[in-house]
Amino acid sequence: MDFSNKKYKIIRMKKSLFILAVFLISSSICKSQNSSNIKKDIIETKVDSLLSIMTIEEKIGQMNQYNGFWEATGSVPEKGNEKLKYDHLRKGYVGSMLNVTGVEDVRKIQELVVNESRLGIPLIFGLDVIHGYRTVFPIPLAESASWDLEAIENSARSAAIESSARGVNWTFAPMVDISRDARWGRVMEGAGEDTYLGTKIGVARIKGFQGDDLSKSNTIAATAKHFAAYGFAESGKDYNTVDIGTSTLYNVVLPPFKAAIENDVKTVMNSFNTLNGVPATGNKFLQRDILKGEWDFKGFVISDWGSIWEMTPHGYAKNLKHATELAANAGSDMDMESYAYISHLKELVEEGKVDIKAVDDAARRILRVKFELGLFDDPYKYCDEQREKDFNYSEEHMKSALDMAKKSIVLLKNEGNILPLNKKQKKIAVIGTLAADKNSPLGSWRPGSDDDSAVSVVEGLKEYSSEITYEKGTDLTLGTPSFTSEIKINTTDKSDFKEAIELAKKSEVVIMVLGEYSYQSGEGRSRTELGLPGLQQELLEEVYKVNKNIVLVLMNGRPLTIPWADENIPAIVEGWHLGSQSGNALAQVLFGDYNPSGKLTMTFPRSVGQVPIYYNYQNTGRPGPKEEVFWSHYSDEKFSPLYPFGYGLSYTDFKYDNLRIDDSNKSEIKVSIIVENTGKYDGEEVVQLYIRDKFASVVRPIKELKGFEKIHLKVGESKTVKFTLTDKELGFYDNNGKFIVEKGEFYVMVGTSSQEGIESSFEL
Ligand code: NOJ
Repeated sequence: MDFSNKKYKIIRMKKSLFILAVFLISSSICKSQNSSNIKKDIIETKVDSLLSIMTIEEKIGQMNQYNGFWEATGSVPEKGNEKLKYDHLRKGYVGSMLNVTGVEDVRKIQELVVNESRLGIPLIFGLDVIHGYRTVFPIPLAESASWDLEAIENSARSAAIESSARGVNWTFAPMVDISRDARWGRVMEGAGEDTYLGTKIGVARIKGFQGDDLSKSNTIAATAKHFAAYGFAESGKDYNTVDIGTSTLYNVVLPPFKAAIENDVKTVMNSFNTLNGVPATGNKFLQRDILKGEWDFKGFVISDWGSIWEMTPHGYAKNLKHATELAANAGSDMDMESYAYISHLKELVEEGKVDIKAVDDAARRILRVKFELGLFDDPYKYCDEQREKDFNYSEEHMKSALDMAKKSIVLLKNEGNILPLNKKQKKIAVIGTLAADKNSPLGSWRPGSDDDSAVSVVEGLKEYSSEITYEKGTDLTLGTPSFTSEIKINTTDKSDFKEAIELAKKSEVVIMVLGEYSYQSGEGRSRTELGLPGLQQELLEEVYKVNKNIVLVLMNGRPLTIPWADENIPAIVEGWHLGSQSGNALAQVLFGDYNPSGKLTMTFPRSVGQVPIYYNYQNTGRPGPKEEVFWSHYSDEKFSPLYPFGYGLSYTDFKYDNLRIDDSNKSEIKVSIIVENTGKYDGEEVVQLYIRDKFASVVRPIKELKGFEKIHLKVGESKTVKFTLTDKELGFYDNNGKFIVEKGEFYVMVGTSSQEGIESSFEL
């Protein structure tokens, strides 16, 4: 503890007794122990000492989080209560603020609390730092398509460095919700449909944000969210009811959270949804029994925005006071913008409805994280003006963002090897309003960047060729949509079609950039149609009539249904919302300076009626395909998806051969395969291993990812890729939440996607 820091004005005479006590206890611990647990013990002692001198109001204050005065990321329950917020800050009745950023503003509020409140306990400042900060990285769904854990960790690291330089010390990320429903707008924020991959990616992001030492001034606390099952909202409608069985809960939904806890994530956010009739925010089973009980989570739970209050419209709480009681007893430690704890918690403790121990426990958890962040040593450690300037669009982070963006691109189709384009290619038409859009590539959730700051596709392409001519063809939206407004899509105005068609006629190749505006996916952005929005499909078909040599570049935040394009357009590139370096990344791929290696992490349906669609489904008693009608299928749609999980092409070819399984040691089944680059380009391949537990006491999926490795192969080069399967990969949770491993036959498939590979089997 550096109490000599002059900036740290918390040290007032009235606090000196507490500090002296803590100092003495800390030094005696240091003398009596020399284990690595010293730091933890010291923190526990400091927390205890602090708690012992706090009033109940101050403890509840720690459990209270307010939104900043300037921005909101949800609807604001009480407008204009700036005066109340300042008053509470001064009294020490606020533990955290969200959406306050920038060294100047953060310092101003921190000073107010540290200097004016009785105990001067510093605030923790939270923000949705989701994919980059000043430098915007690809949306998380796109990043997940890279299957590159190191690059993903690095992306989160850059975001932590940049946001902490602006005063932020806590991010509400990663979202580790698994989802199988592309109608849900928030699939853009997760790692797709698979639990195994999603778990690894979640952990990589946590490591990136929190780094190796949380007390450094460039690391920030992470949040695993939304606990739990938010990604299973019925019909993909945001905030909707979730009703899932125990097998899905234990095997699909919970593992990424469990891994987050095991990897020391500091906070967990609960969620808006009900789970089997009980709102997650008031859910004791989730928060007390599983999270803090079975998993022994030591950090704190933050509610989602207003989710304590929302238990009232849900029909679970009779009013805000009742909601407060339910949330506090269930283990929600901090209240985000419900004004619940600050209004009713003290009264509930006095009435004996909430045990003071629950309040102590919550305050203890919050203080613990603040100590771990080093906020008591220096509450202004994230307030360095020079650092703030240094990380204003830093060159180094732009490079990483470009690298990540390239790795996120997925080549979906390349008939006749139309791609990569020849750099000497003449007359290239670029059509589609998204091609010149400098805002949409930034995607949803980018509170730290400037609007219109991305490199557009047209700009990126122009770096390569002077033969680029652009026509928008049609406007996608009417007006300029914002994060909080409903999007209005243009469905009538075709006045710009003509110029685009004329341009296509005169061109040798047409690059069409079509898809979704940045805020068309994200929170509150569920859709019932997953085709190209507005008039874009029509524009594509009109251009196709005059020029078939089309490369379709998709820019979107979720899987889209594009069966017509798949049938007719020779080349399709999934370009997501790729962030600040979007145009440069796409240009490098289109002109062949980077060989695409991304693989889908969410299944692309043929039509919305197939949703939810995912590769790791369970077989029915009537699997197909069959000639007759009585099997599990649709009579008006193919059984298969358009593009499956794990799918993605390369400019080169990879040959898989010689799958071997050594099952002589049942606790370590060894699998190996030889992969060879037989094509004309050096390239990267994600080698994927899937298993199927052929029969079990609880039905297991038809296929489950249980290993992958991303390898780089030069032309002609081959590599042996090895996997080890242990109980961890072969077991599953039964319907009581117990992890079990059952003997029997297992299938193994190793290959290039969830649908293509070499199969074999072994006996456990
Ligand atoms: C609501 C979202 O569900 C959550 O993910 C986010 O962190 C909060 N708003 C704060 O913006």
